[in-house]
Amino acid sequence: MSTMRLSRYSLLFMLMLPCIGVWAEPAKLADVIIPDSPEALKRGAQTAVGTCMGCHDLKYITYHDLLALGFTKKEVDEMRGEHTLGTALMSQTPPEAGLAAYGKIPPDLSLMAKAREGGPRYIYTLLTSFYQDAVGNTNNRLFPGVKMPDILGAGAANDPAAQHELQTKAAEVAAFLNWAADPHANERHHIGYYAVGYLIVLTGLLYLLKRRIWRRIAPPSTSLPSSKSDF
Ligand code: HEC
Repeated sequence: MSTMRLSRYSLLFMLMLPCIGVWAEPAKLADVIIPDSPEALKRGAQTAVGTCMGCHDLKYITYHDLLALGFTKKEVDEMRGEHTLGTALMSQTPPEAGLAAYGKIPPDLSLMAKAREGGPRYIYTLLTSFYQDAVGNTNNRLFPGVKMPDILGAGAANDPAAQHELQTKAAEVAAFLNWAADPHANERHHIGYYAVGYLIVLTGLLYLLKRRIWRRIAPPSTSLPSSKSDF
């Protein structure tokens, strides 16, 4: 094979490499439908506050933001305890304690759904991929050697009922973290509809205005100017 052809083949191979990466990545993630009903998001928030916040912060989300998910003021008051409504969702565990206990500071979860490829599907897969190896140690198929414990008990969910419960919980907390990464997305969509509606009405009005003005400037006549010089 000539050097020219060889370099052409290696160039083609190099161009295809990123495609292999793109195809290989999502296959590792579970093919799950992340729920988006208000009830699922609320239950996900309860898991996040009651379980995940044992170690993780959600520093960009405040207790007040939870009202937008449909929680009543009373429910939020119960969750926040002594904290004010404007307080961010900070873990009960200080970072140094997390580091000492797990060897890694548990990362902030507010933007996690944006930070990882696959977003909520990544979070779901991580939570459901814990297993016990042959010698009884817990590990994770998606993130081998992860320092986070099997917090939802995926390794012990052996019967279908326990698995269903685990999958529902993981999907709902992933849904909540997906909302948390962009809590104003719904508002923005609504504003978008209003803006488009406004522009359509404005276009109609401007068209009517244009017709009125042109009726005055160039009254419809039967004899059109014969040449450009008539202007
Ligand atoms: C007992 C402490 C603890 C609890 C509770 C906990 N985590 Fe973690 N989590 C960790 C630690 C420690 C890490 C860092 C893991 C590492 O980098 O090896 C981590 C990392 C993560 C990551 C990032 C993984 C990555 O790709 O870097 C996600 C996502 C996550 N946790 C989600 C959750 C969710 C969702 C919950 C609640 C259902 C939760 N965690 C509860 C300790 C905890």
